[in-house]
Amino acid sequence: MLLSSSRLLSFISLPALITSLQYSAIEKGAYEADSILRRDAVIIGGGSSGTYAAIGLRDKGKTVAVIEQKNLLGGHTNTYTDPATKTPVDYGVIVFDNSSIVTSYFNRFNIPLTTGTGRATGSFTESYIDFSTGKNITSYVPPDPTAAFNAYATQLQKYPSLNKPGWNVPDPVPADLLLPFGDFVKKYKLDGAVPTIYFFAQGFGDILSIPTLYFVKYFSLSFLQGVETGFLITSRHDNSELYEKARTELGDDVLLNSTVLSTDRSGTDVKVSVQTPAGKKLVIAKKLVISIPPLLSNLNGFDLTDNERSLFSQFTSGALYTGLLNHTGIPDNVEITAVKPNTPYNLPQLPTLYGLYLTAVPGLKQFLYGNSAPLSDNDVRSSIVSQIQKLKTAGTIPTASTPEFVAYSNHYPYELRVSADAIAKGFYKNLTALQGQTKTYWTGAAFDRHDSGSVWAFTEGLLGGIAA
Ligand SMILES: Cc1cc2nc3c(=O)[nH]c(=O)nc-3n(C[C@H](O)[C@H](O)[C@H](O)COP(=O)(O)OP(=O)(O)OC[C@H]3O[C@@H](n4cnc5c(N)ncnc54)[C@H](O)[C@@H]3O)c2cc1C
Ligand SMILES: *[C@@H]1O[C@H](CO)[C@@H](O)[C@H](O)[C@H]1NC(C)=O
Ligand SMILES: *[C@@H]1O[C@H](CO)[C@@H](O)[C@H](O)[C@H]1NC(C)=O
Ligand SMILES: *[C@@H]1O[C@H](CO)[C@@H](O)[C@H](O)[C@H]1NC(C)=O
Ligand SMILES: *[C@@H]1O[C@H](CO)[C@@H](O)[C@H](O)[C@H]1NC(C)=O
Ligand SMILES: *[C@@H]1O[C@H](CO)[C@@H](O)[C@H](O)[C@H]1NC(C)=O
Repeated sequence: MLLSSSRLLSFISLPALITSLQYSAIEKGAYEADSILRRDAVIIGGGSSGTYAAIGLRDKGKTVAVIEQKNLLGGHTNTYTDPATKTPVDYGVIVFDNSSIVTSYFNRFNIPLTTGTGRATGSFTESYIDFSTGKNITSYVPPDPTAAFNAYATQLQKYPSLNKPGWNVPDPVPADLLLPFGDFVKKYKLDGAVPTIYFFAQGFGDILSIPTLYFVKYFSLSFLQGVETGFLITSRHDNSELYEKARTELGDDVLLNSTVLSTDRSGTDVKVSVQTPAGKKLVIAKKLVISIPPLLSNLNGFDLTDNERSLFSQFTSGALYTGLLNHTGIPDNVEITAVKPNTPYNLPQLPTLYGLYLTAVPGLKQFLYGNSAPLSDNDVRSSIVSQIQKLKTAGTIPTASTPEFVAYSNHYPYELRVSADAIAKGFYKNLTALQGQTKTYWTGAAFDRHDSGSVWAFTEGLLGGIAA
C-alpha cells in the first residue's frame, strides 16, 4: 500500500514535467472514442474530500470520474500492515470527530468506530528529548492546559462562524485574528495550551508567527471538545479500509496514477485531458470539482482565471513527514516528544523530529517530522537518522541505533495559508466566492481545515450545487 519515496517524488514532479505543454483548447478529435469519458462531474484528487464528493455524488444518482495522481485513494491516510502479524498501523490520519457526518460515512461502508485518542495506551514512559543534543530534558514538565483551554474556549466563542465548515471569516476581520498566534497567546494568557496546540499543529511550521485565524479555525471549539473528551478511531485501526471500499465501489470511475494535462472550461462542458497509465483520456463533464491543494505549482495545465491565479499565488504551506521506523534501539515502552530548553514554550527548532510514538507493533515507532518549508526526502530521512543517533552519543538511550524506514510518507504541502495582510484584504471572502464560478467547485483542507469530519461536512454542502 505504501508509496516509496521515489515513486512519490516522481508523481509530485510529474506536473512540473508537463509545464512545457502549453495550454490550448482541447481538441476532441485527438482522442480515440473509447478514451473519451462523459460524466456529470469530474473530480481532481481522490483524497479525503475528493472521495467524499465522488461517493456523495454517486449517491445522488450522478456519474463521476476521479483523477488521482497516486496509486491509491485516501490522501493523507496511510496504513501499514505488519507482514508478520498482519497488524494494521495507521500513521497518517488517525482520529475523527464524534460527529454525525463521520458516523454515517463510516456506517455506509460498514466500518466500526470506537472512542480513542489514537495515542498509546497502557504503561509507557514519556520522555522529553532535545533532538539537537540528544539529551533527556528531565526538568521539563508539560504545563497543565486546563486553565488555558478555558481561556481559549472563551476566545473561540467569539467566532461561532469559524466553527462551521468553510471559511466564514467575520468581515471586517477582527484584529485579534490577524495577530501572530504568539501575541494572541500572550494577550489572553493561553501559555499553558501551547504545547498541546503545537502537538496537534505538527507540520504547520513556526506556530507562534502564524496568524491566529488559522488556530481559531483548526484548533476550534469542536476540536477542543475532541481533545478533552476523546475522538473516534476505527475499531480495526485501519483507516485505509474506507478508501479501499470506496475504490471498489467507484470501480473504473477512479483513474489512479493519473495527472491532469490540461483543462478547458470555456465551453458548455468542462474538458479535462488526463494522462493515465493506459494513455491519454478526455473527460467531458458538466462540473469540475477540484479537491487538490491549490498551489500554483500543483495546478500546471489548469486554465485558471486571473482571479484564481492571483488568489492561489498567495498561498504558502508547511511540510509534514511521517512513517514507521524499525531498529531504533529505543525501548518499546518509551515514547519521545521533542522539546528545546530556553526557547519560548520549549518548542523545538525546525526542521525537527516532533516525536517518536508507540505503535501496536513491537519494535516499530511512528515518527513525525516537520518544517515550515518543503525538504527533500533524502534530507528528511538522513536528519531523522542523525537525530536518533544523537540519543546514543548523548548517552540518553545507550541502545539507540540506525533506524530502518519501514514506511515513509511525504505530506507536503500541508496547511496552506496566506499572510495576515491578505486575510485583512478579504482573501477568504474572495476564495469563497470562487465556488460555482466557471462550472468549478473547490474543496479540501485549504477551503476548510485539516479535519476529516469538517472537510466532509464542507464537501457535503457543495454537493447540491455540483449535482444541479
Ligand atoms: C500526517 C497527517 C496526519 C493527519 N491526521 C489527521 C487525523 O488524525 N484526523 C483528521 O481528521 N485529519 C488529519 N489530518 C488532516 C487531513 O489532511 C484532513 O483530514 C484531510 O485529509 C484533508 O483532505 P483533502 O481532501 O484536503 O486532502 P487529501 O486527503 O490529501 O487529498 C488530496 C488528494 O489529491 C491528490 N493530488 C494532489 N495533487 C494532485 C494532482 N495535481 N493531480 C491529481 N491528484 C492530486 C493527492 O494525492 C491526494 O490523494 C492529517 C494530515 C496529515 C498530513
Ligand atoms: C499504479 O502504479 C503502481 C506503481 O507503478 C502500480 O503498481 C499500479 O498497478 C498502478 N495502478 C494502476 C491502476 O495503474
Ligand atoms: C459521541 O457523542 C455522542 C453525543 O453527541 C455520545 O452520546 C456518544 O457516546 C459519543 N460516542 C463516542 C464513541 O464517544
Ligand atoms: C528521561 O528522564 C525522565 C525523568 O527523569 C525519565 O522518566 C525517563 O525515563 C528518561 N528517559 C530516558 C529515555 O532515559
Ligand atoms: C524489525 O526488526 C526485527 C528484528 O530485526 C524483525 O524481526 C522484524 O521483522 C522487523 N520488522 C519489520 C516490520 O521490518
Ligand atoms: C479580493 O478581491 C478584491 C476585489 O477584487 C481585491 O480588491 C482584493 O485585493 C482581493 N483580496 C485578496 C487578498 O486577494
